[in-house]
Amino acid sequence: MTKNPKVTIAPAAGKLAVLTPGMGAVATTLFAGVEAVKRGMAEPVGSYTQMGRIRLGKRSENRMKKVNDLVPLAGLNDIVFGGWDIFSENAYEAAKHAQVLEKDLVEALQEPLSKIKPMAAVFDKDYIKRIDGPNVKTGKNKMDLADQLRADIRTFMKDNGCDRAVMVWCASTEVYCPPTEVHQSLKAFEEGLKNNDPAISPSQIYTYAALKERVPYANGSPNVSVEMPALIELSKEMGTPICGSDFKTGQTLLKTVIAPGLRNRQLGVAGWYSTNILGNRDGEVLDDPGSFKSKEVSKTGVLGEICSADMYPELYSNIHHVVRINYYPPRGDNKEGWDNIDIFGWLGYPMQIKVNFLCRDSILAAPLVLDLALFMDLAGRAGMRGIQEWLSFYFKAPVAAPGLKVEHDLSVQLLKLENTLRFFTNEELINHLGLTHYGVDEGEA
Ligand SMILES: NC(=O)c1ccc[n+]([C@@H]2O[C@H](COP(=O)([O-])OP(=O)(O)OC[C@H]3O[C@@H](n4cnc5c(N)ncnc54)[C@H](O)[C@@H]3O)[C@@H](O)[C@H]2O)c1
Repeated sequence: MTKNPKVTIAPAAGKLAVLTPGMGAVATTLFAGVEAVKRGMAEPVGSYTQMGRIRLGKRSENRMKKVNDLVPLAGLNDIVFGGWDIFSENAYEAAKHAQVLEKDLVEALQEPLSKIKPMAAVFDKDYIKRIDGPNVKTGKNKMDLADQLRADIRTFMKDNGCDRAVMVWCASTEVYCPPTEVHQSLKAFEEGLKNNDPAISPSQIYTYAALKERVPYANGSPNVSVEMPALIELSKEMGTPICGSDFKTGQTLLKTVIAPGLRNRQLGVAGWYSTNILGNRDGEVLDDPGSFKSKEVSKTGVLGEICSADMYPELYSNIHHVVRINYYPPRGDNKEGWDNIDIFGWLGYPMQIKVNFLCRDSILAAPLVLDLALFMDLAGRAGMRGIQEWLSFYFKAPVAAPGLKVEHDLSVQLLKLENTLRFFTNEELINHLGLTHYGVDEGEA
């Protein structure tokens, strides 16, 4: 690897603990998938860190390098998985329960999966209404619960001989609770932990514990966990990277591909109706209006940002954007999404686009969790702190620095990610200018 003199990246030596609050469908599909890949039973399809290639230098140089050959990422054999859940099932039992993967595959991986046993969770029924379980911590206040989680992290790392850890939130979506006074500064937040402030959710207690242990934290769900001044302040203070929110997997992934395409061609949008049927535990939790509200906010924000009514009033000032998720048990994890997009073109003539995506929720999400874990570990070793906007590629509602516009366009997000990797390795940043005809760049950008 070429080194950027401005960046020091510590080597990916030793073992990496990948810790997930929540050991449900997404987390167990990740654990099983990595174990299957390690054994040569499957390919890590969907994972940019494992399969992606990045162009380096001029087009004429023809240099395409595998991402994991370019930057020093932890190897799959060096990952140790751990997690917390309100249910005490180990990852083998939880994977069977989730019914995402075929029985034969789960049985073949019984040995490594059975070893992953959930630590007792920090849980509050007020934040997740539709489920309840026995494997839950008790403590004298929320600070005490955070201290217990910190002890869990340290014990896990010691017991498993890990040198570093990352945490990716894979637990259920909590009810929609925008930040309050207690979230505005670290001082107020720590007071709130001691005083059991009801506005502090379990996911925020996990985030606080991770950051205090200098463990990078990524938020895979739409609820507020790290997206607030207090914990952003803590991440900077501890020199630890953070990112979120809400894995961009199915319908929203396609939305952030299609919408920029329409806008780039200056085509108008009159309405976008998105509906889903979903039958897994996530769907059950999202059946509660409070949890759904968190999802609705992250899912609907995308379109308004890409198709900005302020910038293009003639095209986007009157978009009827509707997002629905319907809990429908027969489908399990195999979600079906329908999008009806009413667009208009030259002289306002209307047209329609229909998208019917028969997807598999956790199959789409698992590789994102792997990439986030590996890139957040890289960011930590590269001394990055605070919000990691270059990982917006993975999120429905990417967190940006205060006052900055969020970038939702998937291709722009990828460009930013790639250029960050080029920056790390002292490779030329690519701007795709390529004005060779004017002699601006003789080597072709
Ligand atoms: N699958 C996708 O495509 C996708 C996309 C975006 C976001 N997400 C989000 O990822 C998360 C996980 O999804 P899933 O399908 O695995 O859901 P799931 O219901 O199968 O798993 C979530 C697990 O979290 C546990 N849990 C709940 N509260 C907890 C707590 N406080 N501490 C520890 N464990 C707790 C539950 O018991 C459950 O086992 C959800 O928030 C979901 O919205 C998933």
